[in-house]
Amino acid sequence: MFDRKNTCVIVVGAQWGDEGKGKLVDVLAERADLVVRYQGGANAGHTVVVGDRQFVLHQIPSGILHGGAACVVGNGVVLDPETFFAELDELGTQGIDVTGRLWISDRAHLVLPWHKLLDQASEKHQQIGTTGRGIGPTYEDKIGRRGVRVADLLGAPDLRALLEDRITRVNAVLGMLGASVRADLEEHIAFATRLAERLRPLTTDTGLLVYRALRDGRRVLLEGAQGAMLDVDHGTYPFVTSSNTTAGGATVGVGIGPTEIDGVLGVVKAYTTRVGNGPLPTCATPDLEERLRTLGGEFGATTGRARRCGWFDATVVRYAVRVNGLTGLAVTKLDVLDTFAEIPVGISYRLDDAVCEEMPSDVTRLERVEPVYEVLPGWQQDTSGARKLADLPPAARAYLDRLQDLSGAPIRYVSVGTRRDQIIEC
Ligand code: IMP
Ligand code: MG
Repeated sequence: MFDRKNTCVIVVGAQWGDEGKGKLVDVLAERADLVVRYQGGANAGHTVVVGDRQFVLHQIPSGILHGGAACVVGNGVVLDPETFFAELDELGTQGIDVTGRLWISDRAHLVLPWHKLLDQASEKHQQIGTTGRGIGPTYEDKIGRRGVRVADLLGAPDLRALLEDRITRVNAVLGMLGASVRADLEEHIAFATRLAERLRPLTTDTGLLVYRALRDGRRVLLEGAQGAMLDVDHGTYPFVTSSNTTAGGATVGVGIGPTEIDGVLGVVKAYTTRVGNGPLPTCATPDLEERLRTLGGEFGATTGRARRCGWFDATVVRYAVRVNGLTGLAVTKLDVLDTFAEIPVGISYRLDDAVCEEMPSDVTRLERVEPVYEVLPGWQQDTSGARKLADLPPAARAYLDRLQDLSGAPIRYVSVGTRRDQIIEC
């Protein structure tokens, strides 16, 4: 990836999120001029370890940790200004200077406090297991043509009238949902006014900015959030997030054309995890699940919830390769499997006594599938020091070869630890 000038590469999650995209983006950002987030919002939790410091970014692109790269929050993102500025301030405290290299799209929709109230009230009716960050309601408002974009906030001739109109409706909905809380107009006006002043100098037409960067021969990295199985169209609906997490969402969420894209890198864990509700076919038995969770530190970076853990599911990744058009895979957390004597890999499903090799579109069918496993020998050796494929034990290489064959896309990177240098380029 990024082996020539003027490349535009998308990095997406190819499972249920938390694949380690943050780390890959951080590694690749070294060679990128521009890193752009294009969907999702503060529901994302991108963990990046730099030296002995750990950063968890929810709203600001992970590329910000590299001094050279400029970062953009694209129009497809729902921007939570509170989280955004808290992160910005924290980066400042940590000595990371972002002056002149962080931009927000004027077309991005704002997550306002009322969206979080609606998110929590909706969860009482339909338990999706959301992060509670107001993501679904903000996208609902966007599609319902009643959202508040950054440009609308900054250009509002009468902010009070705009917010009053929205809040009247929000409070009617909260009443209908049986919630006891209500959105407060004065609080929202104060909130929006305060944030508008901080947003103004960072705001621009980011689609134009990215377009011009590409015309100037710059290298652009488009950073996805969540994963293919959480895509609102292609994921395990309704247990999904409210945006297109797959590669197609990138061009829309940035404001460039599909012809600009040179490659799509799918990030996968060497096993599988899921946080939030909905089926996880290859979930491990409780003792092995606990072992994966402990070894992998599998707790949500946004909510702290324990992630469900299981084995690599090739049906999922094959599907992700197809719907994203993946040109390469990055396999992360291989080192987490170092101590296992045997490692099952889900190669397909059985559904109603038939082999099922494609992802069912209906979640009730996915809940009923039985994974078909192939058990591969473990390597029972420490891989965290490996820096090239030849450093890996033969059984680990065989494991990766099998994942690649089953998935149908070439492995380009293997990550063997949280640190920046713990990466193998294949
Ligand atoms: P929402 O995006 O907060 O609406 O949550 C919808 C579903 O997506 C829930 O199952 C969440 O746990 C899941 N989800 C949202 N963001 C992430 C993420 O960054 N990593 C993993 N799961 C996520
Ligand atoms: Mg995460």
